Amino acid sequence: MNFIKKPYLLAIDGPAGSGKGTVAKLLSKKLNLNYLDSGAIYRLIALSAMEKKVDLENDKNLVDLIRRVDINFIDDQTFLNNTNVSEKIRYEAVGKNASIIAKHLKLRKEILTFQRNFFQGDGLVAEGRDMTTVVFPNADLKIYLDASVNERAKRRHKQLMLLGKDVSIQNLIDDITARDKLDKERIHSPLSIADDAFVLNSDDLSIDQTVNKILKLI
Ligand code: DC
Repeated sequence: MNFIKKPYLLAIDGPAGSGKGTVAKLLSKKLNLNYLDSGAIYRLIALSAMEKKVDLENDKNLVDLIRRVDINFIDDQTFLNNTNVSEKIRYEAVGKNASIIAKHLKLRKEILTFQRNFFQGDGLVAEGRDMTTVVFPNADLKIYLDASVNERAKRRHKQLMLLGKDVSIQNLIDDITARDKLDKERIHSPLSIADDAFVLNSDDLSIDQTVNKILKLI
């Protein structure tokens, strides 16, 4: 695709399960841009803290931990100190703990430059909770990708069934609602809609339809 000015910066925020990860990755491939899954960084720190038994409430110790870990993203795989942890960081407990440590301002500040450095070459598609508001306030295009709690729970249920795991929809609704609350109500960099963001609701859209809508906006 060579219709965009380069370097180009597309920032996408939204709640857990809105489809932003899949959509952002596809767009980065179509547009030939770098891809930043910022949630993976929080998940990696949470996983490392869990393994090293670092108190998730202790921001100073968490910052010390970040300074000592080696994080790499290579070919869609995620590495912590040279170990491939791509599957592990997707565990429910890691996601929950990522949301807990994400409230610490010191920790968020510590990883700011690391995230901004992904914007190089022809540009970047970055997704998370504060890409449009804090990390890349000057993005060329900002999207807030939303979906209802019920729809997100249904999608998660389908994914888990494919993995042979049967969790009740109500449990998933409760988990998603709790995560939304943590992410939207924290003091620093809460998930919110940037003034200049386009809001898309993906309830009735397929992945391809969502990608095409964003391509039109670009
Ligand atoms: O997108 P995800 O589910 O992988 O993110 C896991 C958690 O990380 C999320 O619940 C909150 C935190 N997070 C954040 O605070 N800011 C971001 N930009 C991305 C994720």
